Order: sequence, then C-alpha cells, then structure tokens
Amino acid sequence: MQKIVDFIQDTFKTKEFIPLHEPRFIGNEKKYLNDCIDSTFVSSVGKYVDTFEAEFAKRVSAKYAVATVNGTAALHISLLLADVTKDDEVITQPLTFIATCNAISYIGAKPIFVDVDLDTMGLSPKSLEEFLKDNCEIIGNRCINKTTKKTIKACVPMHTFGHACKIEDIKDICNEWHIALVEDAAESLGSYYNEKHTGTFGKVGAFSFNGNKIITSGGGGVIVTDDETLAKRAKHLTTTAKIPHKWEYVHDEIGYNYRMPNLNAALLVAQLEKLDDFIDSKRNLALKYEEFFSSIDDIDFIKEPENSVSNYWLQAVIVKDVKNRDDFLDFTNKNGVMTRPIWKLMNELDMFKDCQCSNLENSKYLEQRVVNIPSSVRL
Ligand SMILES: Cc1ncc(COP(=O)(O)O)c(C=O)c1O
Repeated sequence: MQKIVDFIQDTFKTKEFIPLHEPRFIGNEKKYLNDCIDSTFVSSVGKYVDTFEAEFAKRVSAKYAVATVNGTAALHISLLLADVTKDDEVITQPLTFIATCNAISYIGAKPIFVDVDLDTMGLSPKSLEEFLKDNCEIIGNRCINKTTKKTIKACVPMHTFGHACKIEDIKDICNEWHIALVEDAAESLGSYYNEKHTGTFGKVGAFSFNGNKIITSGGGGVIVTDDETLAKRAKHLTTTAKIPHKWEYVHDEIGYNYRMPNLNAALLVAQLEKLDDFIDSKRNLALKYEEFFSSIDDIDFIKEPENSVSNYWLQAVIVKDVKNRDDFLDFTNKNGVMTRPIWKLMNELDMFKDCQCSNLENSKYLEQRVVNIPSSVRL
C-alpha cells in the first residue's frame, strides 16, 4: 500500500493532500470573465453563450448544441425531447451517478435497470437485448413491457468515467425496438467510439460541466443533436417557453429556467480552448498508472475499451479481492491520497428499489471493487 501512495505522490510531485479531481484555469478564463462583467451581460443572454454553443457543436461534430444550467437539466430536457412522459419507462444502467435516474424521475417516468459490461462499465447491449426479448413486444411501433403494459420510450446508456460503452450495438438494438437513444455523456467529453464522438449517436446527448468534470463552468451542461426541430425545442423549453417578442411576455407551455448564464459560458469558452491539453495530460497519466499497476498483485488499472478513445476523465482501478477494497480506501485516504468507491447501484437506493431489473451480476461485481484514484490534469 505504501508503494501506491509513494507512486501517486511522485506522479503529482507533492506530499500534500492529493484530491481526486481539481479544475484547472490556465487559459483565458479571467480575460473572458472580465469581458463578460464589463459588458454587463452576465445572465442568460450574451455572446459567450452563443460562442460556446457554436464551438461545442463543432468540437463534437454535432449540428446543434444548447447550453443549460447543469448536466441534470440537460438530461431532463433530452428525455422530454425523446417524448418521454410520466406513463413511460426508460431503460438505463444501475451503475451510474444519481442524476441519470433523477432526470427520468422528474418526468414521472420509471427506470428499468439492465446490466453493464465489465470492460466498459457502461450499459451492455447483450443485457439490453436479452431484457427486451424476454420481457417486451412491439405493438404498433411501440416497445411494450409485457409485465407492466407500459411503453419503453427511451434508453439512456452512460459512458462511465469517460470510457465509451458499446454504443453502436446499443443504437442498433434501440432502432430495432423503436426506443429512442438518449446518451448520458456527462463524463465523456473528448471520448470517441469508432472515431465518432460520444453523445452524438442517439437522438440527443447530454454533457455536464460540473466542477469535477474535464472542463467546468462551475455548473453547466449542454444538449447536442443533429435535428434542427429538436434543437429549437430544447432552446424553447430551457428558456421558460417564451415566444420571442419585442416586449410581450408570452409563454406557450410550461417551460424551465434552465439557461446557462453568460458568465458561466465565458468560463467554459476558455476551458474548451484547453480541452486537448487536458486530454493529453490525462491520457499520459493513464499510461503511467497502467504501467505501475501492472506490477501490483490484486489491483488492475481500468484501460480504455476496444474501438474507443477515452478522455480518461476519472481514472479507476479494480481491487480484485473484494476484502481488500476498504483497506485500500482507508490507507490511501489516511495518507492524503484521495480515493473513492464507485457509486452504490441505483436499484438498491430506496427510491428505485421496486424498479424492474435484469440480472445485474457485472454491475454488482464492479460496485464492490472499483475505486477512483487521483485524476487531475497535472500542470
Ligand atoms: C453520469 C452523470 N450524469 C449526469 C450528471 C449530472 O450533471 P450535473 O452535475 O452537471 O447536473 C453527472 C455529473 O455530475 C454524471 O456524472
């Protein structure tokens, strides 16, 4: 254990506390923030929101990007764009951050949990297909759950810690079963599957710029899509459903105040300029970790899956012998190296205990063994 702490301290060149993930502001952040303040356009309209949306769409090769106040809001709206209503069901993975299930629940829809793959930690196409074949039927272009008689309207895979899941296979299955694909790409800005950016495979994709993400605006999110109608609707819903007018306040439905303030967008435009440097640093750190952990018995470093390029946002290991996980967490945290276990499975939380599940063997295996290790961009 001491060997691991020594290695991480050497790698980050400090004996002080090493956090899991710190943001880095090493570019034009202050310049753009000052410009934003001087302009007085600090709130929901301003040039930085427009610039950010254009630059982000370009970066991920999507036609449209709509900025939001956070990633959860981006997911909530993405599900509404996929036409999910309170009577519907949405398939997702149990191994995810709570926001995925919260967004589904805000609509009143119910999650169904299918297993993840061991190599990607993301939703397993095999588990998805088995669940659908065993439990569902297609009636008039709808996927009907034979147990609940409800429509399964969408599927939300998540690219865990920036590692792409097998999204092409998932997309094919969703198409076959008339299920809308909504990607939770909150963690995977800069990650690709077969050279296509994550978040751009489905009808819509959602990203997060929370403080712990690869780039941050303090809080923020974005919705991406190639569909102009959906992009316009996303803008409308996130801006209180106000009909543009010179002075009248007319709103044509119940909308949301989910706009990203210009101030946050100013920060984000500067962060986006540094994204490639951040990814280089993280991929370099991953190589170091991979080499180091190859000589440690019982602990495997989690590498990018086949056919993908990872941003390696949050780096992780698997402590193979489950009995050793808590010792690893204890020792590293006591010695100033921050490490954290992966999330508790969503289907084990009180709110989602009664949700339908497939066999969740891989999710359980990973839940008990995966630990995140310091992953900040090194200066
Ligand atoms: C997988 C996942 N989904 C959704 C979110 C929600 O993003 P936010 O915190 O910006 O609301 C996050 C991050 O926080 C996340 O990790």
